[in-house]
Amino acid sequence: MYFEELKKELEIELAPKLYRHSVGTMEEAEKLALSYGCDTEKAKIGGLLHDCGKSRCPDNLKHAKKSAELAIVKYDVKDMDIINAIMYHTTGRVNMTLLEKIIFTADKIEPGRNYEGVEEIRKAAYLNIDDAIIKSLESTIEYVKKRNLELNIESVNTLNYLRGGKMTLVEKNIETILKACDNKKAYNFVVLDVSKSSSITDYFIICSGNNEKQTAAIADEVIEKGALEGIDFYYKEGFETGRWILLETDDIIVHIFHKDEREIYDLESLWYDNNSLDVEQYGIKNWK
Ligand SMILES: [Fe+2]
Ligand SMILES: [Fe+2]
Repeated sequence: MYFEELKKELEIELAPKLYRHSVGTMEEAEKLALSYGCDTEKAKIGGLLHDCGKSRCPDNLKHAKKSAELAIVKYDVKDMDIINAIMYHTTGRVNMTLLEKIIFTADKIEPGRNYEGVEEIRKAAYLNIDDAIIKSLESTIEYVKKRNLELNIESVNTLNYLRGGKMTLVEKNIETILKACDNKKAYNFVVLDVSKSSSITDYFIICSGNNEKQTAAIADEVIEKGALEGIDFYYKEGFETGRWILLETDDIIVHIFHKDEREIYDLESLWYDNNSLDVEQYGIKNWK
């Protein structure tokens, strides 16, 4: 009667509200498991234990890891699929298993949940569980952005993966930057993968503007649109002259050139042996 003992232990360990939420998640996980042909015992254990470390770790993002640890050491769970389902129940991850998807979703829609948009996620959960996760992550990310909180990279990667594009975060950031440049009519785009030759960055995005006013406008737009997507350009240079503006973020350096300067420095030829990426795959039509 491992399961009944587990419930009793948790009832003592968790605050009443959290215990009710855990039982609700367990019941919802069982229903989802039945609906999708997943192991119901595993789903029930994962649902019941998914927040078992929450009272010991109030940090919203770290409690999942703590719960996974406790599931192993205190509740003797050995099944790694259950452990991972607990570990990733707040953020999801790329290539989630069915059980991971079930625990993630059950946590968001169990009967005790009552927040704006929950009904839509409930409906989606039994039709297409990926859609339910996408909706849930979208609303979380929107919430985080509105409040200027730190975006969780794992959540963004999960969302992009499930949306079908299977875009990594850096690809998503390249897309954001290119579109911002395009908004201000930048041209002559080149995106180079320099990861094999450079130790300081992975990608160069290069583009041109016709005059100093335009290069500054392009740079401002990149910074503004980037900020909305959680991209922090921690190094900026060249605004005084507007001839060659550099914006640097994790993995990407953006070079915005005045057209004359572009010809003089001919940066691409210095890095000619690196792969250039197809700009059109990011939806940029007028890139030449
Ligand atoms: Fe949780
Ligand atoms: Fe939870």
